[in-house]
Amino acid sequence: MKKRAFASSPLLQKTTAAHHGALNYKELESIGVSPDQVIDFSSNINPFGPPSIVKEMLPNVELSSYPDRDAIALCRALSHQIGVGLNQIVVGNGASELIWLIAFAFVQPGDRIVVLGPTFGEYQRCVSLMGGQVRFVNACPEEQFNLDYREVDQALNANQPGLCFICNPSNPTGTIIPLETIQSWAQMYPDTGFIVDEAYLPFAPEFQSAIKLGLPNIIVLCSMTKDFSLAGVRLGFAVGPEEHIEKISQIRPAWNVNTLAQSAGLAVLNQKHFVSESNLKIRIEKEKFVSALEELGFSIPPSETHYFIMEVGEAGNFRTRLLRDHLIQVRDCTSFGLPAYVRISTRKSEDNQQLISAIKDMNS
Ligand SMILES: Cc1ncc(COP(=O)(O)O)c(C=O)c1O
Repeated sequence: MKKRAFASSPLLQKTTAAHHGALNYKELESIGVSPDQVIDFSSNINPFGPPSIVKEMLPNVELSSYPDRDAIALCRALSHQIGVGLNQIVVGNGASELIWLIAFAFVQPGDRIVVLGPTFGEYQRCVSLMGGQVRFVNACPEEQFNLDYREVDQALNANQPGLCFICNPSNPTGTIIPLETIQSWAQMYPDTGFIVDEAYLPFAPEFQSAIKLGLPNIIVLCSMTKDFSLAGVRLGFAVGPEEHIEKISQIRPAWNVNTLAQSAGLAVLNQKHFVSESNLKIRIEKEKFVSALEELGFSIPPSETHYFIMEVGEAGNFRTRLLRDHLIQVRDCTSFGLPAYVRISTRKSEDNQQLISAIKDMNS
């Protein structure tokens, strides 16, 4: 049979659309709004960043040469800071790229992959693109969005999956699975690779990273775009056993992390105090913010992070009204399978006040 030009892979049809928080410039253009007019509660970025050192170093970044393809200086600094070997780290163009690289490296057509949900949509997208079949285990509102660990165990046992994606803390709910539970799953199912996405762990500093477990079947994903407020720069890294990290490294696109991102990453690594100071301020703001929303009659399940979900009735409609009438964006959780909820990230006090006033106005 004659092959058509650009005939698409059948797997493309299985790939779900991307739904994310953060401003959608196309959408804003369609409603005649400029991005800088909108207050964004829909992406979970540290509202106090980035650290000033990032702007100070920008003029000195060498732009005309290719970046170090292995980001050695950044990996070395990370390896010292985290206390793992240099070859146990690979950096990516955001943690998002690493999620895709993990699927490219480790998912084969027909593989069953367990995903603990509701959760970040990229896991399912890239697994489906590789022909894998996703089995979700979902947390439910009746349990305040805490997973039933027996159900997880049953899913691991029944599917014997090649991979299991765990977003910890959870996006969108902000709940956390204790490290001992992850450890027991990883030990009980040594043939399953556990991908523990800790993109938001820096916002829950009392909890420890799964990196500490040092188990042969755990890869931990970290993002530097949230705690250091570098979402526009795109930078993340994965930590795990050398043999697995080597495979992820092998299939990276050339020069995947640009020089600006590498330099910014190096500059902020010794700014841990910036994150802890931000966390103290965020915690105070979150408490006030959540109380004010609860006083308005909203139900907010407990969250360990600076973002939380809130039951609003019809989330799509709630989001649209806030955006069109008040230039405020929240995350509609319909794509997470939670059409009655929105996700809101704590911002600075004045912004939080604006959201509360807007909601009061909508309800009046
Ligand atoms: C759970 C989770 N992991 C990873 C990412 C991607 O982070 P990055 O900006 O580092 O690509 C996100 C972004 O929203 C996320 O919510």
